[in-house]
Amino acid sequence: MILIKYNAAEKDIQRILKEKGQQGFQDIVEYLHDNFPQYTWVGIYLVKGDMLYLGPWKGPQPTEHVTIPIGQGICGSAAHTGNTEIIDDVHKDERYLSCFISTRSEIVVPIKRAGNVIGEIDIDSDTSKAFTREDKVFLERIADMLQLHIRNL
Ligand code: SME
Repeated sequence: MILIKYNAAEKDIQRILKEKGQQGFQDIVEYLHDNFPQYTWVGIYLVKGDMLYLGPWKGPQPTEHVTIPIGQGICGSAAHTGNTEIIDDVHKDERYLSCFISTRSEIVVPIKRAGNVIGEIDIDSDTSKAFTREDKVFLERIADMLQLHIRNL
């Protein structure tokens, strides 16, 4: 049941990208937010130079972290290493940059092209330990699809 949901989401997101390309990124963050109840806040950051810049996002509130230096926070760490970060309890990770008082867990998935990090998907959850191996596999596949459509680097 759960895997069917991830597969269906992958197909829907593929369709959005085929129709709209990078213009569809806003639809994609909205799709992820609206279809996965544990995804409380969903954003896409893009890398320019040594900074991450927030692009499309959907969630209850805006974040103050619209730019993040690579190397800082969970987002900056994932951009630096190129590895997905799953944080089960954000309050136990000293790198964590707080955006929302209600956040308990976070996943950051680098968007890579030819081995270079060009952006990332950042998802905050109000539930602790919200992100599983299935979320990681699913979101890494989405990141792979997104990289094909990123033009304005
Ligand atoms: N928590 C992130 C900052 C971005 S907000 O979650 C939207 C971090 O530690 O890098």
